[in-house]
Amino acid sequence: MGGMTAAAQREAPPGAELKVAVLGGDGVGPEVTAAAMQVLEAAVRNESVTLSLTARPVGWKAVLEGGSPLPEATLQACLAADAVFLGAVGHPDAIGQPRDRLPETGLLGLRKALACWANLRPVRVPPSLVGVSASTPERVRGTDVMILRELGGGLYYGEPRGEKDGKAWNTMVYSEDEVQRIARLGLSLARGRHGRLTSVDKANVLEVSRLWRRVVDETAAEKGHGVEVDHMLVDRAAMELMLNPTQFDVLLTENLFGDILSDQAGALVGSLGALGSASLGDGTDLYEPVHGSAPDIAGKGVANPLGAMASVALMLRHTFRMEASAQRVESAYEAVLADGIRTVDVKEPGQEPVGTTAFTDAVLERIESTTESAAITEGVR
Ligand code: NAD
Ligand code: IPM
Ligand code: MN
Repeated sequence: MGGMTAAAQREAPPGAELKVAVLGGDGVGPEVTAAAMQVLEAAVRNESVTLSLTARPVGWKAVLEGGSPLPEATLQACLAADAVFLGAVGHPDAIGQPRDRLPETGLLGLRKALACWANLRPVRVPPSLVGVSASTPERVRGTDVMILRELGGGLYYGEPRGEKDGKAWNTMVYSEDEVQRIARLGLSLARGRHGRLTSVDKANVLEVSRLWRRVVDETAAEKGHGVEVDHMLVDRAAMELMLNPTQFDVLLTENLFGDILSDQAGALVGSLGALGSASLGDGTDLYEPVHGSAPDIAGKGVANPLGAMASVALMLRHTFRMEASAQRVESAYEAVLADGIRTVDVKEPGQEPVGTTAFTDAVLERIESTTESAAITEGVR
């Protein structure tokens, strides 16, 4: 993965061209993508790198244009880029279409083609948002969980799959190698955080989970120095995430469980619109907010661009190794939230909500002012 190999540990060299394929997609996708790209541009403006953005269609928009949710030209642009940003895919008109015309098939095909097998979904509840959590402020304060979702296997890709004669079937399948590589990543992430890894499965019922649990334990015995590893059944994990989220550091789980638990984590933060993600593996890194195309609010200018902005911060951190710029983005949106500037999904009673553009402008202003003061400090030295 761009993000995880030794070669990519270096910061983007001075003068480097950062090539990003930009796939806005459907619904609110293009709205939050526009906001995120403005933030990305502002975050690197004073760095000695140049940003090259290439926009391409994906999802239902691409199906309408040419019949495929992942056109060849889009895929080629992604393969040629250093990183891909994807807004969201999915459209109500697509329901009932054959699988090869579903927007979601485009996204799953893209993850596969980019060899993204690890999905990092960080869930931090900034102090300013504890009041809008679906849990209570006392329970949620200090929450900082890294959901590590296996992204390349499980029910999403397992064969056989199909539908015939009034029956339909999918296959949950994992090999030891697939579990080992994600477990290794989980251990290494935990080591860089608070040293705890909770692996979530359904080992009381599923063979796949029993293999998962055994391989996690074996990998921990071999590579887990300094990391405290435990296991939790997924149903209980869903409950603990609401009642006692601060117990978690890295929460490692398979593809479908991770999908479900991360939307629940959206409720913990107050809105699914607030979470971002990084999809990493052996190819090009892909950055996507956790939320979908949100057809219920698309086109209204009210979508929360926080998840998209959080994904930009992750891109700066994991692909471009520009940690200072990543933190500048995160501090900027956290400061704007703390000032009470909120989109409607995370507003407190009595606060007047702003739209996507006004929220984004406030974040851009903040990034620009911190960039300027950093430049002044630099000049004084
Ligand atoms: P969704 O995430 O689109 O929306 C769920 C709820 O969260 C809705 O009420 C929506 O308004 C709200 N929400 C989502 N993003 C928001 C934002 N940025 N700001 C404010 N509120 C936001 O989930 P859904 O309705 O179950 O799915 C809609 C479509 O999106 C489906 O076609 C699904 O397959 C697709 N989807 C795509 C992705 C992706 O592209 N990565 C992820 C999830 C769902
Ligand atoms: C997500 C989405 C996707 C998934 C869908 C759109 C295929 O829900 O990224 O969380 O299930 O992985
Ligand atoms: Mn999901």
